[in-house]
Amino acid sequence: MRAIPTTQETLAIEGGTPVRKTLLPYGRQSIDEDDVQAVVDVLRSDWLTTGPKIGEFEDAFAARVGSKYAVAFSSGTAALHGAAFAAGLKPGDEAITSPLTFAATANCVLYQGAKPVFADICPDTLNLDPERTAERISPHTRAVLPVDYAGHPADLDAFLALAERHGLVVIEDACHALGAEQQGRPTGSIAHMSVFSFHPVKHVATGEGGMVTTDRADYAEALRRFRNHGISSDALQRHTAGQWHYEMVALGYNYRLTDVACALGISQLKKLDANLARRREIAARYTAAFRDIGGVVVPAVRQDVNPAWHLYPIRVDLEKTRADRGQVFKALRAENIGVNVHYIPVHLHPYYRDQLGCRAGDYPIAEDAYERLLSLPMFHGMSDQDVEDVIAAVRKVITHCS
Ligand SMILES: Cc1ncc(COP(=O)(O)O)c(C=O)c1O
Repeated sequence: MRAIPTTQETLAIEGGTPVRKTLLPYGRQSIDEDDVQAVVDVLRSDWLTTGPKIGEFEDAFAARVGSKYAVAFSSGTAALHGAAFAAGLKPGDEAITSPLTFAATANCVLYQGAKPVFADICPDTLNLDPERTAERISPHTRAVLPVDYAGHPADLDAFLALAERHGLVVIEDACHALGAEQQGRPTGSIAHMSVFSFHPVKHVATGEGGMVTTDRADYAEALRRFRNHGISSDALQRHTAGQWHYEMVALGYNYRLTDVACALGISQLKKLDANLARRREIAARYTAAFRDIGGVVVPAVRQDVNPAWHLYPIRVDLEKTRADRGQVFKALRAENIGVNVHYIPVHLHPYYRDQLGCRAGDYPIAEDAYERLLSLPMFHGMSDQDVEDVIAAVRKVITHCS
């Protein structure tokens, strides 16, 4: 590690005054009184789980993203598992995904006993590269899982064309991209299945929660069964029909989302547009401010794409700075800016190295990006002052190191 050189203002990490007095997190939920009331109403109702709210949430979600069906799950991870099941992934199959993602994207392939195969990413968007994906297709490939990194949609048309040619299922990991658009089409309406997360840092927060959207009735049915033990009817359906009989027709799990969480989701969804608008405003301000700072590479946006800006990941230009990403991270934390890193490439985790024989050097573009990436604070509730604090801190630290 090189020492951070000192010039100009003293960095907080070296004893100077931090840009902020309190730590600004990189992401957090926005909960208002309507959300609280929606949850309280369910707590006072007859159904805490698998009641009327789940169907209401699914219908509202499908309408918002323009899909025929939406199936709610207890987390984005459970939703990915459901999608891998519905796609028919089984032992002996392979599914290709991005190394620059949260481990859950690749893990869902392993849950089904199939093998995750990685392909390197595009240097601009850091999304799975369709051409490199094509090179990894084998007779065992059954699915591709592009990830909408940071909220910038993957090139789904290219993946759908590949899928058509090779008989594959496209499962989009859209956990970052609720509300994004490409060529005017909303994320969630394009891939064979799209998977969303409602973790608190996401655009719609339910604590834990997830959703799969699809236009295919057979996938929707398989997903509904899978989240309910593989049973063909749910408790509300049996209650309404006044009957007790049910059959387990496949091996499933309890991946149900509670009515409490669904009520929160319905209420949060109503505020999605405001959330997206604020994130887009913050992204535009960051991009304008950082364009003139050598040492910072701002996220790329492709033509005809409107990202959802779950994250705002900058890349430290290691050729122009004298500090590495780890040092910049620590210096920004000392300034009370809650930066984060998305992601340690999945293939470099010990489990993937040990079980799948992955090695450093396998996916050089993802690995090089990882060495440079820093996610800056990005959430709906950030004030203008918060945004200016981030800009001031990045300017201070990067100027120091340039
Ligand atoms: C890209 C990606 N995939 C999957 C997940 C898993 O979602 P969850 O945390 O809801 O299980 C996340 C959540 O952090 C994610 O960012």
